[in-house]
Amino acid sequence: MLQSVAMKMIYWFFLPLILFPLLASCLEKQVYIVHFGEHSGEKGLHEIEETHQSYLYSVKETKEDAQSSLLYSYKHSINGFAAVLTPDEASKLSEMEEVVSVFPARSRNYSLQTTRSWEFVGLNEEEGLSSGHESNMGREDLLAKASYGKDVIIGVLDSGVWPESPSFSDEGMEPLPESKSWKGICQEGVAFNSSHCNRNGTDEPQDCACLFHRKQRKIIGARYYVKGFEHEKGPVNATEDYLSPRDMDGHGSHTASTAAGRQVPDVAALGGLARGTASGGAPFARLAIYKVCWAIPNQSKADGNVCMFEDILAGIDDAIADGVDIISISIGTSDPVPYEKDYLAVGALHAAKRNILVVCSAGNNGPAPGTLSNPAPWLMTVGASSLDRAFLAPVMLGNGREIMGQTVAPDKLENEMYPLVYAGDAVFPDVPQNSTGQCLPGSLNPDMVKGKIVVCMRGAGRRLDKGFEVKRAGGVGLILGNAEANGNRLSCDPHFLPASAVSYKDATKILEYIRSTENPMATISPAQTVMHYKPAPFMAGFTSQGPNVIDLNILKPDITAPGIQILAAWSEASSPTKLEYDHRIVKYNFDSGTSMACPHVSGAAALLRAIHPDWSVAAIRSALMTTARITNNLDQLITDEVGNTATPFQYGAGHFQPIKAADPGLIYDASYDDYLLYLCSLGLNKLYSTFKCPEDPPSPVNLNYPSFAIPNLSSTVTITRTVTNVGSSNSKYYFAAKPPPGVHVKASPSILFFDHIGQKQSFNITVSPKDSDPIAKRSAYGFGFYTWTDGFYRVRSPMAVYLP
Ligand SMILES: *[C@@H]1O[C@H](CO)[C@@H](O)[C@H](O)[C@H]1NC(C)=O
Ligand SMILES: *[C@@H]1O[C@H](CO)[C@@H](O)[C@H](O)[C@H]1NC(C)=O
Ligand SMILES: *[C@@H]1O[C@H](CO)[C@@H](O)[C@H](O)[C@H]1NC(C)=O
Ligand SMILES: *[C@@H]1O[C@H](CO)[C@@H](O)[C@H](O)[C@H]1NC(C)=O
Ligand SMILES: *[C@@H]1O[C@H](CO)[C@@H](O)[C@H](O)[C@H]1NC(C)=O
Ligand SMILES: *[C@@H]1O[C@H](CO)[C@@H](O)[C@H](O)[C@H]1NC(C)=O
Ligand SMILES: *[C@@H]1O[C@H](CO)[C@@H](O)[C@H](O)[C@H]1NC(C)=O
Ligand SMILES: *[C@@H]1O[C@H](CO)[C@@H](O)[C@H](O)[C@H]1NC(C)=O
Repeated sequence: MLQSVAMKMIYWFFLPLILFPLLASCLEKQVYIVHFGEHSGEKGLHEIEETHQSYLYSVKETKEDAQSSLLYSYKHSINGFAAVLTPDEASKLSEMEEVVSVFPARSRNYSLQTTRSWEFVGLNEEEGLSSGHESNMGREDLLAKASYGKDVIIGVLDSGVWPESPSFSDEGMEPLPESKSWKGICQEGVAFNSSHCNRNGTDEPQDCACLFHRKQRKIIGARYYVKGFEHEKGPVNATEDYLSPRDMDGHGSHTASTAAGRQVPDVAALGGLARGTASGGAPFARLAIYKVCWAIPNQSKADGNVCMFEDILAGIDDAIADGVDIISISIGTSDPVPYEKDYLAVGALHAAKRNILVVCSAGNNGPAPGTLSNPAPWLMTVGASSLDRAFLAPVMLGNGREIMGQTVAPDKLENEMYPLVYAGDAVFPDVPQNSTGQCLPGSLNPDMVKGKIVVCMRGAGRRLDKGFEVKRAGGVGLILGNAEANGNRLSCDPHFLPASAVSYKDATKILEYIRSTENPMATISPAQTVMHYKPAPFMAGFTSQGPNVIDLNILKPDITAPGIQILAAWSEASSPTKLEYDHRIVKYNFDSGTSMACPHVSGAAALLRAIHPDWSVAAIRSALMTTARITNNLDQLITDEVGNTATPFQYGAGHFQPIKAADPGLIYDASYDDYLLYLCSLGLNKLYSTFKCPEDPPSPVNLNYPSFAIPNLSSTVTITRTVTNVGSSNSKYYFAAKPPPGVHVKASPSILFFDHIGQKQSFNITVSPKDSDPIAKRSAYGFGFYTWTDGFYRVRSPMAVYLP
């Protein structure tokens, strides 16, 4: 499920997988993932597949049956396979000693889940966030130091790619160095051949000039994974999706170009909005496309896409083998999935073992608490927040009063006044009383709407449909008023006529004006792009929130990045809204969601990978987290979209700052074995590997993570952490804490001395409840942070503490 919202509210769910025995009574064949643990490294690839086949054969009638029921043999992530089994066959396999687990991969209802962005985080020519930049590096310095990410390969698991987009241009790309042994392929398919990407891997040409030429590409690999989808939904319908790596949706092109799109000047959305240079985070990084999400058959494209676990795992499996450096997955679930059934997390752990960082979206199920997906501590989990850009469309009323609205609708009114009507006064008589102001399809009476600006209210029906209805009935403009529940959160949509979205309060004022006069009049000014909008960032309402219910000891999400109205590449087989009646074609489009935030961090991680090739995935995550900021461009704490102070359950360590992350001072490192020990502490290690757990594994709270969460502080808790010096050789760091009310936080030692780079120092943090603190909230989480500072570096870690 790709995590995109915006005008279409796309959610991609995996329903929680049901434990196998519960399904034993169900006779239907379905896809199961059979898991043997970890590859021993002794077997060749062919041998692995044969072994998998032989297990399958042992429960199937015939060899042919075994062969045809095998969907994927996983060779680089888990040791296991996905196959179509009856419950009886699954049961037999699960009883075998070598088999760790057998789970149905079924997820029933799947709906899947930039121009300004890089300037906003300080990564482009213009100024970034005005305060808090004390880094010794400039913006161009970071890109230059990382060679614009040119030797880094980002694998994107999504809905494919539109290779003709200028964001994926090959012009000026240099050859990959020989040291990158890239094994990816260009899988051909519908409207996609090997000329759309450079390397099919099967027959490496001998002649050097050709090799040189073929390596000078932006997209160096493209594959698709459809077996799980087709098992569940039937063959891909050619009018709904391409059976190839080509993107018919737009989402995959958007995320890929946000992570690693070229710098393309003079790009704008419909109507010329947000004009500027479009650029990915690592503009010269290579892209490897893994299409794992597909259009839902017989449903509007606006309803989202489907991504199956077994297809996602196959994509991760190949990405690991192909040799990517970073994997970007803007896919999530509607509900948190336990680690033992979360094959995205299992696959990502194997990626971490090869030092491949997997960056994921946190999900679009906010603002409800505990809704976060992708919470495993070896993943980088990204929430979504705003840019400092707004699209203002003031409404002028006949009484001279101006109301500030917002829009990204491309059409403009002539600059004159038009008659204004409230939809509730212009409907056919048979429209039910409770929906008269809603502009539901077919409800407006053209005789009463023609040539007028119509005020419609939110509440029932899709926002874009309301504008379409006004247009159908002959209206010239739309004022879309929030329902009371929407408050002042404005949603900008690319309507099909001039439009402006206004708050509930402002909508009420407009209605009062309409009631006050015989001939109400109004006009809507064309949308203007406004930069340096304040406050920014604020957290998106849709961003999924902690606590991390899968393991309350790990604070998630990790970080926030821009995810509201991000302009990036789009599929020319799609339309800006994906609605049936939208026939517009665009090269660049706005989209919103944690899906859009995730590739921002993937791009930044690619730059860090280029600058610090020796860093572990934990080090990259640590650098991004401990240098993040928790204040906005008013120098106040980041808020949510209605103005309340946001918490680490929304933004993790804060808003990412790539420039600072390149030089973090200290890092919290962790190895693959540390993650296995962590899994030991949860009793889950066997599901992931053959690693032998110590008798007394460390507490999960002691995983060396750059943040911490304490799920129930009834008495003193001691947390151990180790930092590695990556700043100046001789340094002295002082501890400081801003604990939540009612909580006491101390470090021992409270000063850390370093005399060389790479030196590690451990410390203990004791967290204890204060017996009586009048402002401490009981039976609730409180939030704070601690820092290590040497006068130059400031290494900050957030904390969440539950006080019973
Ligand atoms: C999936 O959800 C859609 C609407 O969200 C619903 O119409 C459809 O019946 C659901 N399909 C399944 C298989 O649950
Ligand atoms: C690949 O497709 C392009 C057009 O999309 C076409 O021009 C080209 O000839 C094709 N190449 C091959 C090898 O089929
Ligand atoms: C790989 O590319 C070469 C040269 O473009 C082509 O001749 C060959 O058919 C391709 N193989 C596959 C499997 O796509
Ligand atoms: C293919 O998709 C189109 C558009 O959604 C639909 O009209 C058609 O019935 C579909 N065909 C099949 C065989 O499902
Ligand atoms: C889509 O709808 C068409 C026409 O109603 C039907 O024939 C087809 O089986 C449907 N396809 C799927 C995958 O449900
Ligand atoms: C209006 O009321 C009817 C009947 O109670 C209900 O079915 C419908 O959903 C309501 N519509 C809106 C927009 O609230
Ligand atoms: C927190 O710990 C106390 C003391 O051990 C216990 O009584 C209480 O039930 C716990 N609360 C929760 C929410 O786990
Ligand atoms: C942290 O505390 C543990 C016991 O609680 C102790 O063994 C260890 O030495 C302490 N580490 C430091 C750095 O003080």
